[in-house]
Amino acid sequence: MFSSSFLLTLAAALGAFASPIVSIEELQDASSSILDSRSTSPGTGTNNGFYYSFYTDGGGNVTYNNGAKGSYTTQWTNCGNFVAGKGWNPGSARTISYSGIFSPNGNAYLSVYGWTTDPLVEYYITESYGTYNPATGLTYKGQLSSDGGTYNIYTSTRTNAPSIVGTANFTQYWSIRSSKRVGGTVTVGNHFNAWKKYGMNLGTQNYQIVATEGYESSGSSAITVS
Ligand SMILES: *[C@@H]1O[C@H](CO)[C@@H](O)[C@H](O)[C@H]1NC(C)=O
Ligand SMILES: *[C@@H]1O[C@H](CO)[C@@H](O)[C@H](O)[C@H]1NC(C)=O
Repeated sequence: MFSSSFLLTLAAALGAFASPIVSIEELQDASSSILDSRSTSPGTGTNNGFYYSFYTDGGGNVTYNNGAKGSYTTQWTNCGNFVAGKGWNPGSARTISYSGIFSPNGNAYLSVYGWTTDPLVEYYITESYGTYNPATGLTYKGQLSSDGGTYNIYTSTRTNAPSIVGTANFTQYWSIRSSKRVGGTVTVGNHFNAWKKYGMNLGTQNYQIVATEGYESSGSSAITVS
């Protein structure tokens, strides 16, 4: 890890060269990762070319950090509910690759996570989870084979719940991988098509991230999306 003073020295030294060995862009990347090592405030935005969203209901201690390119880290202790990660806005039927570490102690999910409006839908393609299987209490619709695994598909109705348009009533769509994994490729289009087959229609795409979500638990994650 570079220190700020090292970077300043490096920048000063580079000024002496006619043709720099490190580009300005590389210096900017390095200095933005120094800024990124501070924790990111709850909210949404773009960071190093990726969209990010960090929602928390304020319970417990939750730290989210944007990192270089598509990377982020989370750490949480006795949280309420939080959802955080990096991806794109708008979402699409893209193929997403991700890798990293997901270490929940209790109830947490690692998912491709997104929203649409008209209809308002919150969707999950859940790759791994902690002690609580989110399928509990959902309505089963069918199965999908994709990306080397089997996903079970479910829906659920949420009443007076937090959403991207404030407190609302909306539907959740879920694909839950039957054998958990952390890292791989998610062909999102396969899920969108399977959901459609079961009458689970999406609206206008809003954001789409590879999210770490915690619910009344502790843990950490370090994820990179591409
Ligand atoms: C959050 O962190 C603070 C400071 O480290 C600590 O005093 C507090 O007990 C923590 N709260 C929870 C819910 O873990
Ligand atoms: C959600 O539906 C319930 C019951 O149908 C209704 O009472 C409530 O006002 C609705 N909430 C919103 C935010 O529209």
